[in-house]
Amino acid sequence: MLRFMILSSLVVCALGRSTKIIRPRLNGKIVGGDPANIHDYPYQLVLLREDLFECGASIISRNYAITAAHCTDGATADVLSVRAGSTYVDREGTIHQVTKIHQHPGFNMNILDDDISLLKVNPPFTFGKGVQPISLPDKNLNVKVGTNADASGWGTLTEGGELPEHLQHVVVQITDQEECSGAYGSITANMICAGSKGKDTCQGDSGGPLVEDGKLVGIVSFGYGCAEPGYPGVYTRVTALRDWIKKESGL
Ligand code: ARG
Repeated sequence: MLRFMILSSLVVCALGRSTKIIRPRLNGKIVGGDPANIHDYPYQLVLLREDLFECGASIISRNYAITAAHCTDGATADVLSVRAGSTYVDREGTIHQVTKIHQHPGFNMNILDDDISLLKVNPPFTFGKGVQPISLPDKNLNVKVGTNADASGWGTLTEGGELPEHLQHVVVQITDQEECSGAYGSITANMICAGSKGKDTCQGDSGGPLVEDGKLVGIVSFGYGCAEPGYPGVYTRVTALRDWIKKESGL
């Protein structure tokens, strides 16, 4: 049943295409977060599929972005592009075409294991005030339970709610792995959970960053609803997939 609920909530994740971007009242929050400026989250990208909002992503170098595999699954590079350097999901900044998708071969749509993709872009990013890469963690970095991490994106402001046009961010705490596993029953070593009371990422935030101490420790992956008590958000554990990133991109 829970598996079904996770999957059905994941279906909602397939934004873009037919989903119209509904303008919010700007009193909203990314489920317990606050509006953010791209100057403070210069690694944040909008991932577009056929020019429509699909997911978040992050800049990791001049030529590469990183996102969730469930955001690129079934796509070819020519339909994907990213918007860099904008606080707004639908305007400003610069558009970069995706020229190659490196989707993790172990990606599993049923349990969302290995939910990671690298995107090569053209033209390369030009770094400046609102456009900067986020550092990748060392694979041995110990991401401690209880530490604060910062997630950002243009996902819905409440479970099943509206999509904001203005970037949002939320600070969540890294959750104990066993506890998270106990809630979902299908948490692998390639996942890391984070959440706080009333605070979470939500539909549309997928593929976006979870940053701790200036390092990309997670990629928004899935959750049962959003900010539901006992169900933290689940993120791709970047340290666990660090060797694969290195192998694919040299980074
Ligand atoms: N799968 C969703 C997406 O594609 C992200 C859901 C995150 N959910 C959560 N409760 N943290 O946008």
